[in-house]
Amino acid sequence: MKPVNGPQLVAIARQYGTPCWVYDTAVIRERIAQLKQFDVIRFAQKANSNTHILRLMREQGVKVDSVSLGEIERALVAGYTTGGAHADIVFTADLLDHATLARVAELKVPVNAGSPQMLQQLGEVSPGHPVWLRINPGFGHGHSQKTNTGGESSKHGIWHEQLAEAYALIDQYKLDLVGLHMHIGSGVDYTHLANVCDSMVAQVKASGRDIRAISAGGGLSIPYRVGGERIDTAHYFSLWDKARKEVEAHLGHPVTLEIEPGRFLVAESGKLVAEVRARKDAGNNHFVLCDAGFNDLMRPAMYGSYHEVSVLDAAGADKTAGVRPTVIAGPLCESGDVFTQEEGGTLTPRDLPAADVSDFLVFHDGGAYGASMSSNYNTRPLIPEVLVDGEQARLIRRRQTVAELLALENV
Ligand code: LLP
Repeated sequence: MKPVNGPQLVAIARQYGTPCWVYDTAVIRERIAQLKQFDVIRFAQKANSNTHILRLMREQGVKVDSVSLGEIERALVAGYTTGGAHADIVFTADLLDHATLARVAELKVPVNAGSPQMLQQLGEVSPGHPVWLRINPGFGHGHSQKTNTGGESSKHGIWHEQLAEAYALIDQYKLDLVGLHMHIGSGVDYTHLANVCDSMVAQVKASGRDIRAISAGGGLSIPYRVGGERIDTAHYFSLWDKARKEVEAHLGHPVTLEIEPGRFLVAESGKLVAEVRARKDAGNNHFVLCDAGFNDLMRPAMYGSYHEVSVLDAAGADKTAGVRPTVIAGPLCESGDVFTQEEGGTLTPRDLPAADVSDFLVFHDGGAYGASMSSNYNTRPLIPEVLVDGEQARLIRRRQTVAELLALENV
């Protein structure tokens, strides 16, 4: 199937206005297929929680991870079911607020516990509840320190040397221990991902418990830069399969192997399309200003993340002429509203073709943590999301209106 092309993006931008998100189903299907060796692919929906994306995942046999009450409700709307240890939805967190606790108890959503308090609070209202233990193995990694979820600087998971309390609570409340889980960070390199396997085998052996499943977590990187490294999924599976076999030999029965990616499944499917509305020079810097801001795509401002950018003319053709160092910025009243910057905020002008007013900018690989991290800062409504399947483009979220925002304040 042909990937979404420039003329198609421009046609969508004209129909739904800019800025807007465009996702390509073909890419998502291909990424799912690459992980099919795992028994369970559990989509970390925080990466993209649009219910139509979730439905697409469900139709492809992918299960789902929810991290908030809202994400549980989204999964239900998408047709996922709950109840029992093999439920479609797992709730992963480090704490349970009151409303979420009541809902997971009511629906019997398995809880992946990141603190002893979660086990205790759950046990008190729902004895026998299915649980996973999220273990912090003592090390972590990520594309940014902000996405490293292991080691002693991380608030996530139960510290690997402090599991006795968790196991005692599991016994006290007769909780049903489904499996052990480790997620050491997001945008993790190969070596760090592989290290988790050894730690998992050691934890299963040390636990003295019988479990039915292990989860490799997510964290798989994608090549944001042209020519960047791509995870060899077959090799990654073989590492985990070996760990699983060791666990099975130890326990004496089959064990389910789960993986929990977000970014890997959706990042490359999504593009943010914006329109150039102004240009200016300030000293040595050449600025191109577009109508998308960090409220729409937060990653560059938050982590200094790199997103490939193309410049399209009015017909959707890639522009190539007049390449010069360019700072791409948005409309927000904040100096950090810049898409070409490093972590810490240093501007990194990028060699880009000359972009004129009314040209379109396409920010690539934004399908993960793009729309899902967007906000209403500067009272900017959330933007449309469009799902492309071959020649067909379907609006899967319409643009929010200012009136909807104001309605929350009873004006
Ligand atoms: N499982 C757990 C428990 C997680 O906390 C996460 C991500 C995932 C799975 C999925 O990780 P992935 O496969 O997508 O790397 N906003 C950041 C990423 C934060 C990830 C938080 N947790 C970004 O834009 O890079």
